[in-house]
Amino acid sequence: MTSIYLDNYPYSKYFKCYHVSEIDSTNTFLKATHILFQDHSILIADNQTNGRGRFDRVWKSDNDICFSIVFKKHYINQIIAPLALELAFIRLGFVPAIKWPNDIYFNEKKLSGILIEDIYEDKFQASIIGIGINMTSKKEFNSIGINDIKKLSKEIIISTILEEYEKLIHLDDNTIINEYIKYSMVINRTIIYHDKEYKALGITKDGHLLLDNNGIKKEVQCDEITFKEAIIK
Ligand code: BTN
Repeated sequence: MTSIYLDNYPYSKYFKCYHVSEIDSTNTFLKATHILFQDHSILIADNQTNGRGRFDRVWKSDNDICFSIVFKKHYINQIIAPLALELAFIRLGFVPAIKWPNDIYFNEKKLSGILIEDIYEDKFQASIIGIGINMTSKKEFNSIGINDIKKLSKEIIISTILEEYEKLIHLDDNTIINEYIKYSMVINRTIIYHDKEYKALGITKDGHLLLDNNGIKKEVQCDEITFKEAIIK
């Protein structure tokens, strides 16, 4: 691993930003060392050799955007993180959609994924919010990159996300959920959850997905859903 240095690009006055050229995974690293980092620290990597996705998947990046944030307070990050990305992209000139819980899609293709890991030792210690944004599409996945949409620098994207994140953590949960629902590509659609069809009805105050199958309601905390009418995973 090469050394980690303070990044002097003015990303955000609210965050202390570190940079590394290559690392296994910014999430893995911060999970192990969060105690050394203050609240609102971020670690940006030019390259990850063992990037991780949700459900122990591999997250491949090739000159893409990879960074993780450390928060020492608990927020509804499952909702706030994708919404911060959504609002940042809107400010930067295009409108993607949020696939519950926290993927960002554009033209029904995945643009970004988020891996949130909460650390507890007796009590809550920290949340690590890992954000991966494709700059280019990956052939083997149903993905799209920023470069297919608009010419934007990584620095502008990261600083806009941090600004939106900082605004959102000061809002009440209800406002955040309502804003999230506006950009959801899931609500009111028929989805498949564990091989069964459901209609997605809404999002609870904790960020859980509310489903209905012929009057039988189900609340899903955090899982994977697919769409009936398209092959979006
Ligand atoms: C997913 O879609 O499954 C989540 C992907 C999250 C990838 C990011 S890249 C930065 C951070 N470090 C990791 O190892 N993973 C997250």
